[in-house]
Amino acid sequence: MNSKIVLITGGTTGIGFACADYLLGLDYRVIITGRTRENLDRAVAKLGINCIGILSDTSSLEDIDDLVAKVKNQFGKIDGLFVNAGIFKAASFQETTESLFDETMNVNFKGAFFTIQKFIPILNNPASVVLNTSIVVFRSFANTSIYTASKAALESIAKVLNIELAVRGIRVNVVSPGVTETPIQKKSGMTEEAISNLLEHFSSTSPIGRIVQPTDIALIVEFLLSDKSQVLRSEKVIVDGGTTL
Ligand SMILES: NC(=O)c1ccc[n+]([C@@H]2O[C@H](COP(=O)([O-])OP(=O)(O)OC[C@H]3O[C@@H](n4cnc5c(N)ncnc54)[C@H](OP(=O)(O)O)[C@@H]3O)[C@@H](O)[C@H]2O)c1
Repeated sequence: MNSKIVLITGGTTGIGFACADYLLGLDYRVIITGRTRENLDRAVAKLGINCIGILSDTSSLEDIDDLVAKVKNQFGKIDGLFVNAGIFKAASFQETTESLFDETMNVNFKGAFFTIQKFIPILNNPASVVLNTSIVVFRSFANTSIYTASKAALESIAKVLNIELAVRGIRVNVVSPGVTETPIQKKSGMTEEAISNLLEHFSSTSPIGRIVQPTDIALIVEFLLSDKSQVLRSEKVIVDGGTTL
């Protein structure tokens, strides 16, 4: 029986949902968050009674405080935190508005930053934190400037946290997915045709001959959350089927 308790931000769809499903299958106790009631209820219904869903907008510090209080009240402390909630909206550098800049940074970086900070008091010793960044941090794609900046910022704090939080037994590692087939593409504002072309391009040019699926990422995230990776610090696992080789 696995007694570990893991919280996944943004666990209602895509990578977060696949991770929740995989962890639950290994008897982890899993808490997921999402900012949309309908998506959260649908996800919890699919994941089953061992999954707890808490509505929480990661870009709101008040919501994060409320989330931490609820988790503390119900579970005391947790063993793992998968900092996964994120958004991507395609825009050229010249078209990127202040509002898109703020929205992206508030969810992908500010929200992630303060989620980690506010969870520290209720992370067990030892505990594992996994940051979901992206291959965009080291491979450039047009129309991703603010998304890339948000993920680079998130990735950049992993080393600092590993130094500062070592005394608390908290370790931090990074999962860096390649293009993965999830609802994020549709939410990005891309047309069906553009999504189809993107997925086809990354399938046909990938050494594995297919697009990465959320379930591929789940195996790696579980490894990074588990004791199997307990000596890793700031390790970045690129899960892209070799597309960036
Ligand atoms: N798919 C890819 O190609 C890819 C590649 C590299 C990295 N990633 C990263 O992987 C992570 C998950 O993305 P995904 O591809 O699985 O997309 P997704 O299916 O759209 O999942 C995003 C999740 O984040 C949640 N979320 C978004 N904004 C939130 C907020 N303000 N507060 C709380 N939850 C919020 C969504 O919840 P709602 O249901 O409330 O919207 C959803 O559960 C993101 O950080 C993304 O940047 C994805």
